This record gives sequence, structure tokens and C-alpha cells, in this order.
Amino acid sequence: MADVPKDLLQEIQRLEELFTVDQTKLKAITKHFVSELAKGLSVEGGSIPMNPTWCMSFPTGDETGTFLALDMGGTNLRVCEIILTDEKSEFDIIQSKYRMPEELKTGDADELWEYIADCLQQFIESHHGEEQFEKLSLGFTFSYPATQDYIDHGVLQRWTKGFDIAGVEGHNVVPMFEAALAKRGVPIKLTALINDTTGTLIASAYTDTAMKIGCIFGTGCNAAYMEDVKSIPKLAHMNLPPDMPMAINCEWGAFDNEHKILPRTPYDIIIDKDSPRPGQQAFEKMIAGLYLGELLRLVLVDLHDNKDVHIFEGQNIDKLRKAYTLDSSFLSLIEEDPFENLSETRDLFHNKLSIAADHSELELIRRLAELIGTRSARLSACGVAAIATKKGYETCHVGADGSVFNKYPHFKARGAQALREILDWPAKKNAKDPDPIEILPAEDGSGVGAALIAALTLKRAKEGNL
Ligand code: GLC
Repeated sequence: MADVPKDLLQEIQRLEELFTVDQTKLKAITKHFVSELAKGLSVEGGSIPMNPTWCMSFPTGDETGTFLALDMGGTNLRVCEIILTDEKSEFDIIQSKYRMPEELKTGDADELWEYIADCLQQFIESHHGEEQFEKLSLGFTFSYPATQDYIDHGVLQRWTKGFDIAGVEGHNVVPMFEAALAKRGVPIKLTALINDTTGTLIASAYTDTAMKIGCIFGTGCNAAYMEDVKSIPKLAHMNLPPDMPMAINCEWGAFDNEHKILPRTPYDIIIDKDSPRPGQQAFEKMIAGLYLGELLRLVLVDLHDNKDVHIFEGQNIDKLRKAYTLDSSFLSLIEEDPFENLSETRDLFHNKLSIAADHSELELIRRLAELIGTRSARLSACGVAAIATKKGYETCHVGADGSVFNKYPHFKARGAQALREILDWPAKKNAKDPDPIEILPAEDGSGVGAALIAALTLKRAKEGNL
């Protein structure tokens, strides 16, 4: 950055201080995280919901049958038909994706359920035509925090990921969904309502028994793992067998909602304040894909308007002023720019924002993207390290999915580096040796995972277990 003017260099330094999370801080965050996980399982509860999911076993690989899976994530709606075949841990899948219209996310509850039911109906008609069959069993991946009294029940605690649909929070979503299906006569029976992280955990364990944690690093960020009933005091009143496993959907996006430990910047505070649910999802808002581009945008606008630096001087930055115009793929492209002169980043700014960025500005933008992306990966690692510490896992596999994990450059390596720093692993003898805890690409949790959980639920019901 030899030719970058002094004022910009100073600004870069300020941003580095704001966004860097060093090893000591990572360890402190993880320590607090471990105690917050336990608090969430207690009768009093804490800010991390730690929702019991009524998914009570890992698959054996011998599950069979045909299932539907519906995935309502943050961005798309996906319908799948999954055949769990007689071959161990093998499956076939057909699927269709539907765009989740932006207006629906802040619209009205009926419109949401009608839209979902229409997509399911379309899927069934195009794959089964007029064919008559028994009701198909469906695993519904509803990736929001829900209180479940049993597996086909789920009271939405609160919307996350920018959703804000009136009339759903505090209600059981299953009857609303079923009513829309019944109205159309769609032959589907909801067998299990699941979270994407639980699906990821189960789908990953189906093909790799070392998988102990399922994570999503995507539009939102969260994890699930298997707990023993005896370690879940809030379930004590149910008199379940103490050694029975119970998958817990952590909803760790809510970690540190009380702002005790995370190094929030003024930009994180604006994101929270301007979101539909201020005060919620403090951790998620610092790391998840939905917010990464917005962070970059807020910093750039602040530099332009308020700081003593000269950035995009004399240019019209109206397009940059629009909230949420930049998504995390924009940051990915900046971090991926292979050219020393950052010509792709220059073109991105020109084409998308009508801003002509000079070389020093491009250097600042690139560094800022690195800082935001690195912070996201390092903070995410604290959650993984916290679950592993709580469970005493010295070695295990962690199945991860989501756009940030799969597509954001260096996310995996940065996360692995942070885990190393938090857990103080000894230096590797051989660079190729695996880390004791590895975060690996997961099987499709919201599709195959949902089908497997539906299969496990039916099996349990047949055996007369709850
Ligand atoms: C949000 C949701 C959570 C989901 C995660 C990843 O954090 O609240 O349920 O697992 O996003 O999609």
C-alpha cells in the first residue's frame, strides 16, 4: 500500500483496530459462550434459546422410504422428494427451487402459507400428475427459532434474517401451514418440523459418524448438536430417560444479546438499530451473510460523509446509500479479485454503484472486505469451539453448509486458523494432517436431513416411542 495517501492509511489502521479479533479476545468470547450455552439449557434460560428439537437419535444409514422435504430458508424456497434407498447411506433426490419473493418476507402470514402451499402443489402435480397415492410424509425445514413441544409442532419465537411477517410470532406454525395445504387438497402429512442446523447435523452423520455438530453459515448463522437429556435441566419435568439423546437447535445467533463480550463497532450498532428486530441476534448480525455487505456499505458511507478522509470525492454515491444493496457475494467478488490493480473491484463499483474508485480507494475497499470476512469467520469459530468444549469433544467433524461457508473466499481457512488459536492445538507434524476438529462441507441438511428426521420420527412412532 506504498502509494496510498496518509489519511487513507490512517483510516485503514482505525478499521483494522475496530474489526480485528485477536486470540485473547477469541478465547474470552468462547469461554463466555460455553457458559451461555449451559444457561440456555437451564430452567431460567438465557439469551441463547437452546431449543430441544425432539430429534432423538442419529440415523443408522439403514433408513428407507420416500419423503418430501420443504426448505424455507432465508432466500429460496425448495421442495425435494427424497428416496432413502436400500443401499446403506444412499439416497436419490429430485428438487425444484422457487424464488422467495422479497415482499413476502415483510408481508402477511396468509400470503406466506398460500405461496408455500402453491409451490408444494406445483411440485406434486409436476412429479406425480393425477396419480393417487397415500399422503406423502413431509419434513418441513423452518429455519427460525421455534419452541417445540413435540416434533410436528413449533411456536415461532421470533423472526430472524430480516423477516417480519405479522401474526406468526408466538403461534404454532404447523396448523397454519396445514390449513393452506388442506384448502388445496394437497396430499401431504407434515411429519417433522425441523431447523436447517438439525437437518445438517443428521444428514452429515448419515454419511460420516464423526460428525457431531451441524452448522449453517449462510444468510443466518446457527448450529445444532446432540445433548443428553440429563444435561437439559429445562426438560427435567418431563421425566425422560437421562441418557436419551436430544438434538438441540442452539439459535446461537442470539449469543450476547446483552452486549457483554462481542467487540461491536458503531457499524454493528447501526445494523441492529435499523433492523426489524433491534436487540435480537447480536452475534448473527456481526457474522452472517445477510449483514456482511451492509457492513461494508455502512463503513464506506461513513468514510465519505463523516471522516477526514477523501473518498469518492465529488461523486454521487446515492446508489451506495441504499440499505442492503450489497450482498455477501459482492464482498466475495472483492476478496476474489485476482488482479494486483483490483480491476474487477473497480468494475464492480463502476457497474453496480456508478462510482469510479481510484487505486487507493480500491486498496481500502479490499482491506475492508478482508477485515469483515475475517471477523465473520473468526467469531463463527468461537461458537464451534464453545460447543466442542461444552461436550468435551477433543476431536470431531463439524458439518457446515450455507452460502458463506460454501462460497465466501478463505472463510474455511480463517475459521480453522481461529479454532487453532482458541483451542491451542500443538503444531502439526505434517502440513497435510487433519486438524483435531475439522469443519467440513455437510450433506444437504434441509433436504436429505429433513427426510431422515421424518423417517426417524415414523420409525419411533411405529415402535410406540414418543
Ligand atoms: C437464523 C435462524 C436459525 C437458522 C439460521 C441459519 O439464525 O434463526 O433458525 O438456523 O438462521 O439459517
